[in-house]
Amino acid sequence: MADYHSTGIARNISYKVLFDVYYNDAYSNLSIKKHFNALKKDEDKALATNIIFGTIKKDIFLSEVVKKLSSVDYDKIKPEIQVILKAGIYQLYFMDRVPAYAVVNDCVNLAKLFVSNKTGSFVNAVLRNAIRRKKEFENIKNDSDIPLWLTIYLSRFYDDVFLQTMEEDFLKSPDMFVRVNKLKSAPQDVYEELNREEKICEATFMPDVFKALKPSAVLNNELMKNCTISVQDISAALCAYALGAQEGDSIIDLCASPGGKSLHIASLTGNKAEITACDIYKHKIEFMKNIFKCFGADIEVIKNDAEEYCEEFYEKFDKVLLDAPCSGLGVIRRKPEILLRLSQQDIQNLIKMQESMLKNAAKYVKKGGVLLYSTCSINPEENELQIRKFLNDNNEFSLEDIVFPEKFYDNIDISSKGEIKLYSHEFFGDGFYICKLVKS
Ligand SMILES: C[S@@+](CC[C@H](N)C(=O)[O-])C[C@H]1O[C@@H](n2cnc3c(N)ncnc32)[C@H](O)[C@@H]1O
Repeated sequence: MADYHSTGIARNISYKVLFDVYYNDAYSNLSIKKHFNALKKDEDKALATNIIFGTIKKDIFLSEVVKKLSSVDYDKIKPEIQVILKAGIYQLYFMDRVPAYAVVNDCVNLAKLFVSNKTGSFVNAVLRNAIRRKKEFENIKNDSDIPLWLTIYLSRFYDDVFLQTMEEDFLKSPDMFVRVNKLKSAPQDVYEELNREEKICEATFMPDVFKALKPSAVLNNELMKNCTISVQDISAALCAYALGAQEGDSIIDLCASPGGKSLHIASLTGNKAEITACDIYKHKIEFMKNIFKCFGADIEVIKNDAEEYCEEFYEKFDKVLLDAPCSGLGVIRRKPEILLRLSQQDIQNLIKMQESMLKNAAKYVKKGGVLLYSTCSINPEENELQIRKFLNDNNEFSLEDIVFPEKFYDNIDISSKGEIKLYSHEFFGDGFYICKLVKS
């Protein structure tokens, strides 16, 4: 077990990340990247990771408990203190290997450090109350962690068994996968190098993707720093294969940042396809230019709004990839903060955005060319129903069989012609939708 000093540091960093996530709209993975440098020991990183993801995933329960235990109205509790209390109660109720006195002590110190001495006493009172009244909350501890509106919305498409399994899966930690940049090294050489001193990754059915057995060792490996490998989920890595890019193809990736799929296409085609990567945000464009350079990928980067029609792109590309902005309902295990922010209105706005992007994307495909549409969502309205509507309005397009290397078929259930629906409770990776359309 970590000593008092190090748990103090882990809790301090967890607080910073959680505050960023709850009140600065940060993504947990990016905030972790920013703050985790302060943690030197693996055990501290593990403790902080557990506190961060556990607190966010159990938010509905923890908010309820704080409301019941606090003498002050929930809305009147300072945001900093709400975060400290939720994280504290998470540790007291869900982590049996951390001593209660250390949790209370560290949370009180965090309140004093980040807010005021007075709030330290309040935190102390609420957490001691939480220890005393723990049994009272046993019966609601395992209630749904998915917002009610979302369960009702998804129940239009999925049965109770599916939704129950999805909920159970939400609480699990996803595996980390890395993809080899074949522009720099052969997968077999990379595999041997990564496992040279100890086994830190294992092969998957995808020749250029490995599962990390020791994620921090993989992340700290020199091959990660010099852009020979990068983190990419195995579901997302299917897109470049599904696109079926060939040498000499002209390809546009309309929503490309941070560039994972464009890089994979460059890697699979050995830089011999003409790839254009677009995004709407200037800072993301600059990011991609730098990352593509590091990977040795020959990719043109253009700032473009996929919702606006661009005349210059008309029937210019053999292959168009639209990896559309989506609700992210397939990646909530990895980015649980999605559930803190998403509303039904957001989903409706995203569906409209995807529809207008698809309309433009269709115009950029050459006759005989391919339009590959993907999302990291499991919401049929963003996926198959979106595509049904598209096919109704665009009769020059039809679904086309997705052709993978032979070995893939034992591992992927191709739901229907031209479509793959992946669910994280059934597949190795994230929830994902991929659809291949061809223009006549
Ligand atoms: C799902 S992510 C793409 C992930 C990327 N394809 C990859 O594999 O790394 C969607 C991207 O669409 C971009 N985006 C959002 N609105 C856009 C728009 N109107 N035009 C172009 N890109 C947009 C976002 O900046 C975001 O990076």
